[in-house]
Amino acid sequence: MKTTGNTVFISGGSAGIGLAIAQKLSAAGNKIIINGRDETRLQNALKKLDNAVAIQGDLSIPADRVRIAEDLKANHPEVNIIINNAGAAFMNSLDDPTNDAAEKAYQEINTNYISIIHFTSLVLQQLLQQEEAAVINVSSIAAFRSNKFLPTYSASKAALHSYTQALRDTFAENEKLNVYEVYPPLVNTEFSAEIGGANGIPPSEVADELYAAIEKNQFEVPVGDTKKIHSLVNPITDQVPH
Ligand SMILES: NC(=O)c1ccc[n+]([C@@H]2O[C@H](COP(=O)([O-])OP(=O)(O)OC[C@H]3O[C@@H](n4cnc5c(N)ncnc54)[C@H](OP(=O)(O)O)[C@@H]3O)[C@@H](O)[C@H]2O)c1
Repeated sequence: MKTTGNTVFISGGSAGIGLAIAQKLSAAGNKIIINGRDETRLQNALKKLDNAVAIQGDLSIPADRVRIAEDLKANHPEVNIIINNAGAAFMNSLDDPTNDAAEKAYQEINTNYISIIHFTSLVLQQLLQQEEAAVINVSSIAAFRSNKFLPTYSASKAALHSYTQALRDTFAENEKLNVYEVYPPLVNTEFSAEIGGANGIPPSEVADELYAAIEKNQFEVPVGDTKKIHSLVNPITDQVPH
């Protein structure tokens, strides 16, 4: 689809991967709407962008999701791309029962899965009114495999992967709506600092790969090290009747 002249809403667009995507798409001549919880971070991020505005809100809270969707409808009716990027992850050890793994899992599932289903459903009709539209979900290499450091985060990204497949299947006959899934490997952001994120790729690499994928209608977007596992797993799972 076109990579310029879009109006793009990016959840979690004030830092990390979301901000890198915002910068890439802003430089390419798109209008950008960034979202995040902290107003100061949003205002600082806006200074790095052209033709951009911010909508503050916590997407893990249902009322905020409704308010943000209403804001988009009223003030930015031309929005044609939403990037569901904001995420939550908790380091945890399953061998310590005082860590409240269930509460951490609940928050991860709420932010990384339920909130995206709800928010997307709130803006879907607006997207379908556009000539060309996209839902872009940022999942993770963790969608393919869990680990002991983030023991419940992977399931939330696997759930997001599953939802993204279903959304893509639902609109397979609709030529206006494209559904993308981006699978970053370890990326050097604040989010990943405590799991060695400094060894990860720069967020700009994720933005560059997504930009190239949008341009060529490549809806599956494995980035960096995710490419190998994606090329092994996806051809197999695609054989499941769907
Ligand atoms: N970094 C990695 O290694 C890595 C790898 C694979 C996938 N990912 C995924 O990539 C996405 C972005 O991660 P990142 O590394 O760029 O994180 P980051 O640097 O910590 O940035 C997160 C952004 O999301 C916002 N945010 C967080 N929770 C939010 C909420 N509930 N509602 C609205 N905004 C929220 C933050 O702003 P506020 O704090 O002000 O709200 C910030 O703008 C996540 O979905 C993550 O799972 C990351």
